[in-house]
Amino acid sequence: MKTELLEADLLAQIDLERLPQHIAIIMDGNGRWARKRRLPRIAGHRAGIRAVRQAVEACARLGVPYLTLYAFSAENWKRPQTEIKLLMALLREYLRKEIGELNRQNIRLSVIGRIADLPKPVRADLQTALEKTSRNTGTRLTLALNYGARAEVVDAVRALAEELRHDGTIQIDEATLSRYLYTHDVPDPDLLIRTSGELRLSNFLLWQVAYSEIWVTDTLWPDFTQNDLFQAIRDFQKRERRYGGLGLG
Ligand code: IPE
Ligand code: IPE
Ligand code: MG
Repeated sequence: MKTELLEADLLAQIDLERLPQHIAIIMDGNGRWARKRRLPRIAGHRAGIRAVRQAVEACARLGVPYLTLYAFSAENWKRPQTEIKLLMALLREYLRKEIGELNRQNIRLSVIGRIADLPKPVRADLQTALEKTSRNTGTRLTLALNYGARAEVVDAVRALAEELRHDGTIQIDEATLSRYLYTHDVPDPDLLIRTSGELRLSNFLLWQVAYSEIWVTDTLWPDFTQNDLFQAIRDFQKRERRYGGLGLG
């Protein structure tokens, strides 16, 4: 009852005409969540899937067009093999189990990152999930997998250099470089959320977050709910975005 009231309150405070078009989330704190409960880290990752569902459903309900989730960084390979293996298994489980729900919510899945370097079975499940949700027209859910922002810029520059060899007239400017990033068909995030209190970007979307509003919560990712997302949006709508200008006030 109390949570329902809170949700209705929060929703009433959100202006649906001024929603962030793209929300990006650094889902952090699964390990700490598990540690607090004296559980293995993987139990935290498993509980994190619940929070993924919460974030996805909240965006679908409101009609946020783009949601990007940082699920596995290019640097996360530094973790113990056992944790990586379990993370990949969880990802496969999510992809296989969730297709029906994603379709029900009209969500189109996409991925960014060096996907070719992921284990083959993961790539196969990704391919299936991408195909089976490709005709959906609602929220576009992008999973960042084996993603690193510096690697992304390197990949973009390499692709651009290759194009330049064929067509020397290409102008190099910000718009051109943007077209070679993994995110070429997604607008820059308006709102960047990080859970579990860490004040860093951890190599996530460095180019794209140039003017994103940043919202950090101490809540650990597995405890993240739809209400947290509604709060973030409400706070976002109170901010004044200036893009280096003088703003309105
Ligand atoms: C985020 O939780 C999930 C991934 C990076 C895959 P962590 O595993 O980083 O949890 P903490 O930061 O150790 O609490
Ligand atoms: C960022 O979290 C990566 C993901 C959420 C997938 P990390 O837990 O890997 O980041 P650091 O190591 O604390 O910077
Ligand atoms: Mg972490």
